[in-house]
Amino acid sequence: MKPALTQIGMQMSNLTGVRAIMKDIVETLQAGNGQEFINLSAGNPLILPEVEQLWRDCTQELLDGSEYGDVVCRYGSSQGYGSLISAIATDFNRRYNLNLTSRNILITPGSQSLYFYAANAFGGYTASGNLKRIVLPLSPDYTGYGGVSLVPESLIAYKPTLDIDAASHQFKYRPDFSQLEITEDTGCVIFSRPCNPTGNVMTDDEVRKIAALAAPYNVPVLIDSAYGPPFPALNFTELTPVFGDNILHCMSLSKAGLPGERIGVAIGDEQIIQVLESFQTNMCIHPSRYGQAIASRAINSGKLADISTAVIRPFYKDKFAVLESTLSQAMSKDLPWLLHRGEGAIFAWLWLKDLPITDWEFYQQLKQVGVIVVPGSTFFPGLQEEWTHKHQCLRISLTASDDEIVTGMQRLAKLTEQIYQLTSVKS
Ligand SMILES: Cc1ncc(COP(=O)(O)O)c(C=O)c1O
Repeated sequence: MKPALTQIGMQMSNLTGVRAIMKDIVETLQAGNGQEFINLSAGNPLILPEVEQLWRDCTQELLDGSEYGDVVCRYGSSQGYGSLISAIATDFNRRYNLNLTSRNILITPGSQSLYFYAANAFGGYTASGNLKRIVLPLSPDYTGYGGVSLVPESLIAYKPTLDIDAASHQFKYRPDFSQLEITEDTGCVIFSRPCNPTGNVMTDDEVRKIAALAAPYNVPVLIDSAYGPPFPALNFTELTPVFGDNILHCMSLSKAGLPGERIGVAIGDEQIIQVLESFQTNMCIHPSRYGQAIASRAINSGKLADISTAVIRPFYKDKFAVLESTLSQAMSKDLPWLLHRGEGAIFAWLWLKDLPITDWEFYQQLKQVGVIVVPGSTFFPGLQEEWTHKHQCLRISLTASDDEIVTGMQRLAKLTEQIYQLTSVKS
């Protein structure tokens, strides 16, 4: 049966951004035809033995304790499981010298759902018919923001400025404050820090400036810290979490080893939390409690933060170093390739300036030599203007073995050389 769909039904059943590419990747891997692929496309974190052991131990404690029945055999509060909320409040108050109470915290089934609630509670049409914009201040950014609004025209992203160090083949994006508009028509602001896909970390000053632009209009600023400290602490440079009246600090336990348990956390002003909590009650009553119960143990014992800095961070930081040094050796110095500074997250972002073909064509040709990356053009949700740069970038996942990263980058370098040479011969 093919049911008739509403406008929203059609919109939400479409695969957008990277999800559409992922379908192509899964089909490529399944078709295989005997070809072995080095898959550098995944956003799924690797299972690190120490991290898995932590969650096993916490699960064992839960199973052995008296709390078990209460956790899994009963409904709970829409705001989240009390033990996890108080573990986070205590940890953050001590760590960052805050005065959080339980009313400042909401637990959601993964942080993606949190962005969905916020995008639709604050963005879209008001009762009087005004369009409130969801502002992404620095594009490219997380592709998942592309599908969160039920009113797609509300999403608007801004081109960044580029800080380029051509001699060392490095660059960094910065928010372009000369273009960025946050006004009474803004519903909320969202950005990831560290950023998926680029590994960029906006500076504390840049974050404070964005929050200050939003404050006069009471606009919530959601700082997506899915890769931030204290867990999973996937920042490779200094990063101070910024808090404030209009800042919603958003976290995820997915990259700290619990993606399957779906745990997102919002920390912020009580009134903002209440709006999002009601949204959640209507949508799904509350997130699953088993994951929350084991997370509260890992946070209270301090082990989650310790494992994050001692195991998770160095693991991916080393992977980035392998990738960077392989590219430096394998790529021709004369070609205009630039790697985004590796400041965090689990990806590298490569810009092939003046690339003679599109990122999608490059992705297809790279597949032919057995390497899969993600074409960069899928990471510019909300950016309306055409920009050639959008078709010149690739996201390369660090969730592979060192050998795979080395071989993958060597093949990528060879292909890059061939593609640039071919056009210089033609022209
Ligand atoms: C920047 C960013 N934000 C949010 C999410 C969603 O994470 P989850 O819903 O698993 O918490 C991801 C997932 O990869 C991400 O990369």
